[in-house]
Amino acid sequence: MTILITAGPTREAIDPVRFLTNKSSGKMGYSIADAAAKHGHRVILISGPTNLDVPDRVDFIPVESTQEMYDAVEHWIKKAQLAIFAAAVSDYKPAFVPDQKIKKTGDTMTLELVRNPDILGSARSKFGYTGGLIGFAAETENVENNARGKLENKGCDLVIANDVSRKDIGFDVNENEVLLVYPDHTDQLPKDSKENLAHDILEHALNLPSLANVN
Ligand code: PMT
Repeated sequence: MTILITAGPTREAIDPVRFLTNKSSGKMGYSIADAAAKHGHRVILISGPTNLDVPDRVDFIPVESTQEMYDAVEHWIKKAQLAIFAAAVSDYKPAFVPDQKIKKTGDTMTLELVRNPDILGSARSKFGYTGGLIGFAAETENVENNARGKLENKGCDLVIANDVSRKDIGFDVNENEVLLVYPDHTDQLPKDSKENLAHDILEHALNLPSLANVN
């Protein structure tokens, strides 16, 4: 099976030397990519900038901005039977990026932001993708309900929810604890290393009813 995975943070340029980003280390997505490659699947890993080594035997597509990740997913998703979106994507970007470094002027400065495209939300509606679709949900409150909203709004088969208000799991740490939010029920995977969870997540993903007839 060919599996597309997004991972890591995006970077949105403010000027030639500054950017908006987030705390994603890429560990969750890279662990899933590694697990999938070790299970013998073809893996297309589309990743924002991280300090991680690229797992062996994956096709690696490095990107920086949300728009670059969007373009890469649009191009590659047609090859995949399963897509897992673990990247932490910036919902907004600066409205205007000057060619020169922004100079200090007044005591305050206002940065105008505009919406970025929703990559996961475009998979079904814009890219016409019909394979297994798994999103992540990074929540700080109402974790299960908010994840269920994303499942429905983005046309996913499964949303993997983590509570990113916790310091011991989620962003930029080695462990995670997730809820698997399906259309008709929710399962919990207890706290474990991202490497171990990746194997469990992959097993659940490969058991999606929509993949029943895919090799
Ligand atoms: O990288 P680590 O340090 O290991 O941390 C792992 C993680 C916390 C980043 C990961 O487990 C995680 O939760 N990833 C999703 C982060 C996120 O952006 O969540 P969200 O709830 O804002 O987005 C919902 C889903 O839509 C996600 O699958 C996201 O990839 C996708 N999305 C969001 C916005 C956007 N413009 N395009 C998208 O595709």
